[in-house]
Amino acid sequence: MALGSDSGRGMWSNRWVFVLAAAGSAVGLGNIWKFPYIAGENGGGAFVLIYLVCVGLVGIPIMISEVMLGRTARSSPIHAMRKLTDLAGASRKWVFIGWMGVVAGFMILSYYAVIAGWALNYILLTAQGTFTEISADGAALTYNEFLASPLQLIFWHTLFMVLTIWIVGRGVSQGLEFAIRWFMPLLFILLLVLLGYSFTSAGFAQGLEFMFDTRFEAVSGETWLVAMGQAFFTLSLGMGAMMAYGSYVPENVSIGKTVMIIALLDTFVAVAAGMVIFPIVFANGLEAGQGPGLMFVTIPLAFGQLPMGEIFGTIFFVLVSFAAFTSAISLTEPALSYLVEEYNAKRKRVAISLGVMCWILGLGTVFSFNIWSTGYIIGQMTVFDFVDYVSQNIMLPLGGMLIAVFSVWVLPQTTVGEQLGIRGGFLGVLWKLLGGLVAPVCVLVIFVYTVMPLFTNAG
Ligand code: TRP
Repeated sequence: MALGSDSGRGMWSNRWVFVLAAAGSAVGLGNIWKFPYIAGENGGGAFVLIYLVCVGLVGIPIMISEVMLGRTARSSPIHAMRKLTDLAGASRKWVFIGWMGVVAGFMILSYYAVIAGWALNYILLTAQGTFTEISADGAALTYNEFLASPLQLIFWHTLFMVLTIWIVGRGVSQGLEFAIRWFMPLLFILLLVLLGYSFTSAGFAQGLEFMFDTRFEAVSGETWLVAMGQAFFTLSLGMGAMMAYGSYVPENVSIGKTVMIIALLDTFVAVAAGMVIFPIVFANGLEAGQGPGLMFVTIPLAFGQLPMGEIFGTIFFVLVSFAAFTSAISLTEPALSYLVEEYNAKRKRVAISLGVMCWILGLGTVFSFNIWSTGYIIGQMTVFDFVDYVSQNIMLPLGGMLIAVFSVWVLPQTTVGEQLGIRGGFLGVLWKLLGGLVAPVCVLVIFVYTVMPLFTNAG
């Protein structure tokens, strides 16, 4: 049973567009920039295994819940939660999930656009040959000088934001679907080209070993925290992005199967990104454990030493930028669709207003790397650290947990059964066990572990 009418809201043309859209949201800086270096730092193959457990036991059930809630209500997350609480006869307090998601999306986009702007700049720098045969110090200097210049950061941040707003302002079919249909296939092609390139590089075996050698001695409780946080962020869970995308899913699409394909694609891209990055890094005898600087210092440096590195390095940053665009557009959708529905406003106008506000908040991140780099908000956190921490480590897990609990324990299970095609039996038990118990409890445990130190170490 669908609760809303879909007139004028737009709808994905078919199942595959939804798969690409959701995969486009999922595949982003989280996969290409973050996954490879945290896997490397946390035990290689051992981390990959733990991460897969998190995706399977927690990520997939929560994503199924989100998409299902969206499709049942066919509205923006806030309106969806209103309709669904009425349907369930439950307290309107659950609508909090929708509001928190809007705020979280706004916060994430504010810094996401800044970092994505760096990738745009690096397309230009690499194409110009800035990194050709550059020294390690030279690459670090380029990066540090760039970060030290607020004006340059603002320029690229603005460009990224304007393009994102332009795409989302055009609507679901002409904006989102159009961008996704072009960017996602291109992204996969570029990734395969780069895989081929790294396969032929001298560091391929060593790179594989670094990623897949299961170093269980490097695993600790902390590893589980990191893996769970990564699973949430990379699958775009906990803030209603998947709910908003789910609201455009045609009735005849199987949510369970589709979500599994999306999770697989996302994991494939993360692993493939590692297989592109590490061989190239090792082929140059460089250090892989560079943390966040891996993408903007080590990688340009590595490409700069390789034959045709300008071309392939440029391709790499184009890939990163595409991935970032298709993620950024999903971050705006919960807020945008809410405002359009609530005030019957023009999508374009709402998109521009949201973009301007988000851009202003993003200045906080821009300045965190230069003039405000010691302007701590709490403890040693800059504006960027704070916005990142609160959205990613507090709001997303909290949202995800509430979404799963709501779907299993509050929503009438006849509705869920119809949406997911579950008629009791094994799948019914699995749904209750994973969605209703395992996922929320895991998130709760992790949540307590991440948030507690904040209070005990405060000051
Ligand atoms: N998943 C994206 C990435 O890996 C980021 C992202 C897009 C996101 N939409 C989201 C993260 C919603 C959390 C919630 O880069």
